[in-house]
Amino acid sequence: MNIKKYIKKKIKKILKIMNIKKKYNYKICNNKKFSDYQINGMIEISKKENIKINILFKIIRKKLIKKKIFSKIKIIYPGYINIFINKNYIEKIINKISKKKNFGITNKKKKKILIDYSSPNIAKQMHIGNLRSTILGDCISNIFKFLGNKVIKINHIGDWGTQFGIIITWIKKFKLEKKINNLKKIEKIYKLAHYEYKINKKFRKLSRKNVTKLKKKKKNIIKIWNKIVKLTIKENQKIYNYLNVNLKIKNNIGESFYNNMLLKITKNLIKKKIALKHKKSIIIFSKNKFPIIIQKKDKAFLYSTTDIASIKYRYKKFKIDKMIYFTDFRQKEYFKSIFYICKKAKYIPKNFYIKNYYFGLILNNNGKPIKTRKGNNLTIKKIIKLIYKKSKKLIIKKNIYNKQKINRITKKITISAIKYMDLSKNRKTSYIFNINKIICLNSNTGPYIQYSYTRIISILRKNKTNTTKSIKNNKFYISSKLEYEISKKILDFEEKILTTIKQFQPNIICLYLYEISSLFSIYYEKENISNIKDNNIKNSKLKLISIIAKTLRIGLSILGIPILYNI
Ligand code: ARG
Repeated sequence: MNIKKYIKKKIKKILKIMNIKKKYNYKICNNKKFSDYQINGMIEISKKENIKINILFKIIRKKLIKKKIFSKIKIIYPGYINIFINKNYIEKIINKISKKKNFGITNKKKKKILIDYSSPNIAKQMHIGNLRSTILGDCISNIFKFLGNKVIKINHIGDWGTQFGIIITWIKKFKLEKKINNLKKIEKIYKLAHYEYKINKKFRKLSRKNVTKLKKKKKNIIKIWNKIVKLTIKENQKIYNYLNVNLKIKNNIGESFYNNMLLKITKNLIKKKIALKHKKSIIIFSKNKFPIIIQKKDKAFLYSTTDIASIKYRYKKFKIDKMIYFTDFRQKEYFKSIFYICKKAKYIPKNFYIKNYYFGLILNNNGKPIKTRKGNNLTIKKIIKLIYKKSKKLIIKKNIYNKQKINRITKKITISAIKYMDLSKNRKTSYIFNINKIICLNSNTGPYIQYSYTRIISILRKNKTNTTKSIKNNKFYISSKLEYEISKKILDFEEKILTTIKQFQPNIICLYLYEISSLFSIYYEKENISNIKDNNIKNSKLKLISIIAKTLRIGLSILGIPILYNI
């Protein structure tokens, strides 16, 4: 249940009855110290509508107090209303929602949403620069799905462009066709070939020729290209699978897919007078927007041309309600221009929901993008290895998880550490990569949340019950202030999920899971459930912790983090 939304709805109704038509930005906040919830922003209404604040407050109080859910409505001058929730009502709701699938949380209006995420470049290993798009995009797609929407995932891999001509030229020059059987090798070639391209005129010329041949789909060239693409996709898939990222090979619709649409689109944009010839290139200038080149003077199309084509194609093909991108902030202005162009060209409707949810970078201690000692990008594979090693050491040292299952548990902890590191940060800002902070077992980390879940499961097991059974049959009632706090927190879950998806900020859910885990930790210290003799009391408490476990399980699953059963 979303109590904040409920209060907001009630206030809206009251204002309507009072004939207040203008929209105001009043807020319902959690107010732990003095009440359960607090209404802010009434002074503005009183001033602008010329109603005395005490009259406005009294009307609100009179209406709200009629509702069973509220036990007390307190007016605090000059401008707040404090709301207290009825304890019995909370018990009733908790008992009710605990029986429902996903606590009854769902989107009323279901939408079809396309999410463009991860999208690494081919011929390179996935690296730290691909991490945020992959993790954020996957989490957001999980949440949309969880809420009942239809999600189309697209991995817009960078599988086309001049770079392939360059790599292929090197491969041919040194007759490496048969030797390119792993991605690391290809990446090395990529670097060497690029260097050669910069310094060697002859090589440059040859590369350009091969680009043309590639475009014309010359058999021997396409064969090498295909090999490089397939190999990279295969390697990337291993990483997705390892990290529990729900991208499959079938989600790959890369840049090359749009090749045969680009000429037509360019002509169409010229015809519509959106694009124009400028110094032999085709450029789109729009007021206050980043200029976009869609065809270079050598007739080559670009990343931008492909993006325009893909938007047109996707809109038509998938009949979607929303299109969402996850790239870092450096592409923020670029995408604004692209969306603007597509709307102007009527490839998508003017009011179509299309957005790039950009994010910050992952930096080193000096605030610079992370590189290896050799100056390369830190690969995701390497990151996994590093965290795996460190997690394993920690688990062995703490001796809290089953030794026989150590490798499986370490893997799950590794996934959780990496994903939670990213998801718990504000999406829009950059953050510093600190390996020690992300696997700690008593602070705001993924492994801590997993550990809290495991602790609850072990209590439930000890008492010969499992989550589903105890949720269904026991009756929960609040018997302490702490249980009241926990109950209120449980009721906040829906609101947190909905705000996360409204703002595209998974850190809201992460913080929530951390807070509820911390509350459980306090509860765990205070209560010795297993030793309680009275069955009613015991069952009520078992039910409460099983609901906490369900909250954590749902929360972790939408973050894409596996749970740990094993102690
Ligand atoms: N491959 C691009 C990069 O590595 C990201 C692609 C994002 N999606 C898109 N449709 N442009 O920066």
